Amino acid sequence: MNPVALAPDIYRISANIGSRDLFEGIWPIPNGVSLNSYLVKGRDKTALIDLVKDWEGAADTVSRQLKTLGIGIQEIDYLILNHMEPDHTGWLQQMKQQNPRMQILCTKKAVPLVEAFYGITDSVRAVAGGEQLDLGGKQLQFFDAPNIHWPETMVTYEASTGILFSCDAFGSFGQVHEAVFDDQLSELEHKFFEEETLRYYANIVSSFSRFVERAIDSLSSLNISMIAPSHGVIWRKNPGKIVADYQRLASYMQGPAEAEVTVVWSSMYGNTEAMVDAVTSGVEAAGVPVHIHRVPQDHVSFVLASAWRSSGIIAGMPTYEYKMFPPMYAVLDVLERSRVMNRRAFRFGSYGWSGGAQKQFDEFTASMKWKCQDPVEFQGAPSKEDRDRAFSQARTLAEEILAWKESVKS
Ligand code: FEO
Repeated sequence: MNPVALAPDIYRISANIGSRDLFEGIWPIPNGVSLNSYLVKGRDKTALIDLVKDWEGAADTVSRQLKTLGIGIQEIDYLILNHMEPDHTGWLQQMKQQNPRMQILCTKKAVPLVEAFYGITDSVRAVAGGEQLDLGGKQLQFFDAPNIHWPETMVTYEASTGILFSCDAFGSFGQVHEAVFDDQLSELEHKFFEEETLRYYANIVSSFSRFVERAIDSLSSLNISMIAPSHGVIWRKNPGKIVADYQRLASYMQGPAEAEVTVVWSSMYGNTEAMVDAVTSGVEAAGVPVHIHRVPQDHVSFVLASAWRSSGIIAGMPTYEYKMFPPMYAVLDVLERSRVMNRRAFRFGSYGWSGGAQKQFDEFTASMKWKCQDPVEFQGAPSKEDRDRAFSQARTLAEEILAWKESVKS
């Protein structure tokens, strides 16, 4: 991989990470992820915006790419840390050892994190929101972007070119190869990155959707010609598309999301499973797309992406020791953390000698502001009447979602 010019003297320095590890130690990345840094060379000073973790040789890749541009690590005057999460800072200590004079610029909230993560206190300077840094012909300006994705996060804007270096904001999973800019992507590649953006957003950013909306509002006065995130492709032809995509994804927290239903289920001995066909057929009978996930077989990362895009969620699980079946409890815990709020829903499932799952499910759905239909609960195996009721409720839920979406349009 080689450096890519965004504008004269502004380059993307990037490494692709493969599918071997989990992102943040939790999220699968079957299509990998890219870590992007950006070099901005002014007449007088040189800045590197965001760094990488030394992950699958990423640090060597960055050093090599800088070298091809004739820049040694020692020649970086400023390291701009938009965000402290170690995927963008993990190599900081080693870089600082190679270049002790380099100034690290970050927000006030990031300063103690630089020390806490890397023991660095020397030449670390907090920049204020709106502050500018003149590199000579290139003018960087910093804007707070709290909680996209940590409280200390900021974005950096280069005024002469209108490039916004947005770090996690407007990013996606998925390796980036020859097609680096949005206008170089085929239709298929656009679809690929739309899916990778959805799952990245749901997994990493969704909890902070209110902050995404605020940041988009607060940056709207900037004349942005290009969005250069630290994961994923660069938006130069149509930066408005990724902004609109993020706006739409953020709006899913309040609902409605898409007119789609996620059926997520888990079964001990096949009795809860015996209802899945009836439920999914009910949704399909209303002409609504349905995403089906069995847990724990499916990773919660993919369940969360489906749930984030769906206005309806149907949860299938038996009672287990008077409570929700643990694999489903684990999924619902992640949906709660990720703020999958305001959905239409119901639960179906079997119980043996005693119920109990529904009581716990009701507490969860109340806290998440889910509007629920009655459960379809049965002792032992489901009867034909149970299956008919599940079909009918699923169809009703799907129809409600269509009406909900329609009401928002009008
Ligand atoms: Fe890509 Fe929140 O780090």
